[in-house]
Amino acid sequence: MVFIDADKSNYINYYNFIMDNNLLTLQGVICVDNSLFKAKVYLKDTTDSNGLALREFNQFIANDPRVEQVIVPLRDGISLIRRVSVASTHLLSQANITDDEVFRGVQGRSILNRMRLDGKVAYVTGGGQGIGRGFAHALGEAGAKVAVVDMDHTKAQAVVKELFLKGVHAIPIKADISKSDDVQRMVDTIVSKWGAIHIACNNAGINRNSASEDTSLEEWDQTFNVNLRGTFMCCQAAGRVMLKQGYGKIINTASMASLIVPHPQKQLSYNASKAGVVKLTQTLGTEWIDRGVRVNCISPGIVDTPLIHSEDLRPLVQRWLSDIPAGRLAQVTDLQAAVVYLASDVSDYMTGHNLVIEGGQSLW
Ligand SMILES: NC(=O)c1ccc[n+]([C@@H]2O[C@H](COP(=O)([O-])OP(=O)(O)OC[C@H]3O[C@@H](n4cnc5c(N)ncnc54)[C@H](O)[C@@H]3O)[C@@H](O)[C@H]2O)c1
Repeated sequence: MVFIDADKSNYINYYNFIMDNNLLTLQGVICVDNSLFKAKVYLKDTTDSNGLALREFNQFIANDPRVEQVIVPLRDGISLIRRVSVASTHLLSQANITDDEVFRGVQGRSILNRMRLDGKVAYVTGGGQGIGRGFAHALGEAGAKVAVVDMDHTKAQAVVKELFLKGVHAIPIKADISKSDDVQRMVDTIVSKWGAIHIACNNAGINRNSASEDTSLEEWDQTFNVNLRGTFMCCQAAGRVMLKQGYGKIINTASMASLIVPHPQKQLSYNASKAGVVKLTQTLGTEWIDRGVRVNCISPGIVDTPLIHSEDLRPLVQRWLSDIPAGRLAQVTDLQAAVVYLASDVSDYMTGHNLVIEGGQSLW
């Protein structure tokens, strides 16, 4: 917003300076003070120089096709001038401009506006900390209402408090996504509270380490129950709601471990479960897209979260760094734009995709 006041006879010059130097973004607003100047702009025989300057200014704005204005008769008058996204047909043909969606924006919305998530309902599993917390904040900042789902309720509540401080509508839900009753209750709670689910981030996952010859069936089952079976149950329960709506975005968290075999840690069950998440994503992504539901996944490299602070993994950080072209671990903030992109309409043509964000590690 730009505010114009001061020398009335210079209002036109101030305005031209703003427009000629492109200081007003699309949908940006200029507020002009005193634009009715004690109603002198309406007096036919006025000789008041300020009244005459403002009359000329108001007419000048009314004739400018780049903007629209309202003059609010509040006290001395205040004008609100907004840059309009669509220039007049006359101007376009004069300047030989291609008048299409690239020029105007899809439905008149610029690219960043199209990535906004206002009015959308989202949930994030494993939202109580780490990557899920980063996703919950990103979706909330982009305008979505967010259900923060975690088996650790205290952590989910803490993230909801953070979101509340930023003006984001959020609720905590305690659920263990490896239990089908919990998954159904999570979905039912969100639908009964907000009436829909547009964005499902199935992010909760666990990592266990053991040499393959020692991997117990218990470890295998535990890992698969959360990482693959749990993710499937969430996709299915949220997917049923989305298929009925005819619209939805599912974003699963897989891992770089779906592509490469991270080393030197031994994590057979984790790697295999995450490869399963990618195939689950590809299959659902192709099966449901013609009914409006897109399913994609994000595969982070090594992210600095509590997941890698275990006794087994922490000592390996230095070793990993030499395998990462970017020369550092990922931060959860490195992943936030990707989830907003996949959650928004701009990515509607993308489905079954595995979006790898690993600082180049899988290429070395
Ligand atoms: N940190 C990494 O380096 C990394 C790399 C690639 C992929 N990932 C994946 O990203 C996801 C999030 O990882 P993170 O690093 O934020 O982990 P994290 O351990 O820091 O956080 C995981 C959260 O999920 C919750 N959770 C665990 N099991 C759950 C269950 N059964 N039901 C509900 N909530 C559950 C935990 O309470 C915790 O709050 C996981 O799927 C993980 O495999 C992590």
